[in-house]
Amino acid sequence: MSLIYPDMRHILTTKEFTTEFIDQIFGIADNADSFNSPLRGKIMASLFYEPSTRTRFSFETAMLRLGGHIITGDNMRETSSVSKGETLEDTIKVLNNYVDVIVLRHYEAGASTKAAAISDIPIINAGDGSEEHPTQSMLDLYTIKSELGRMQDYTVAIVGDLKFGRAAHSLIYLLAKYPGVSFKLVSPAELRLPQEIKDFLGSNNSPYEELEDLSSCIKNIDVLYQTRVQRERFEDQKVYEAVKDKIILTRELVSEMRNSAIIMHPLPRVNEIPAVVDTDHRAIYFKQTKYGLQIRKALLLYLLGHIGV
Ligand code: NCD
Repeated sequence: MSLIYPDMRHILTTKEFTTEFIDQIFGIADNADSFNSPLRGKIMASLFYEPSTRTRFSFETAMLRLGGHIITGDNMRETSSVSKGETLEDTIKVLNNYVDVIVLRHYEAGASTKAAAISDIPIINAGDGSEEHPTQSMLDLYTIKSELGRMQDYTVAIVGDLKFGRAAHSLIYLLAKYPGVSFKLVSPAELRLPQEIKDFLGSNNSPYEELEDLSSCIKNIDVLYQTRVQRERFEDQKVYEAVKDKIILTRELVSEMRNSAIIMHPLPRVNEIPAVVDTDHRAIYFKQTKYGLQIRKALLLYLLGHIGV
């Protein structure tokens, strides 16, 4: 295994990923199981100020499987010195003395960028408010590559909460790096994609169409990426209640999809994909979580200097 000095020191936003970087991470992910404890002696801290199942557990599993160690801060908003008034920057400075890499999930947009500005060790953005979730998008694209067989020339419907969904935001920036990707942005009118991201698609010459239901595009898409309406981001729960069930991927809709299409979801799902859809051959959202482990192993190997064979 060769040791190189990575040029990406932190993982903050998919906007800054190059296609060369993506290829490199995917190449490591393909071989991530062939290394023998390469991260022995290294320590990863997971600092989670918001709930998580997959992101924290898959990063922690990845680190342990690579021979490293973890320290974990769950529910940090209540359990860390933040509750006494400590700033995020101070917490990060202290952790710099203890560990080799930090995986950070925070409720504030831009928190990881703020942390990276004062950190000598790599910061991995595991979700910052409703802004971005870049490692989710890396595993999403790796899933598309593996299951659809290509990263260009297809139509993707991104569905659900496009306003608050950080997984959707990072994914759009990432998928738009490849030619021939056409977007259907399907959401209730109240949960449309922020203008800034639509402007990005426009300036990137990525074709996109905004829709309020799935029926007009369901027959013509290759990838359906469903997302949860982000209840915790609504100031008024009445507004949440009014929009939460507007777009449901019913079995009837699924039956109209192309046979070769794939159905993805970052999870957790609430009721936007009923459980009866799970057995459809196009539903790959649980397989997607397995690809997540490979991608998170690859990112840790890359950031900690073990990039490949
Ligand atoms: C997503 C998140 O936290 O943004 N979950 C995840 O990491 N797989 C999606 C969500 O919470 O809806």
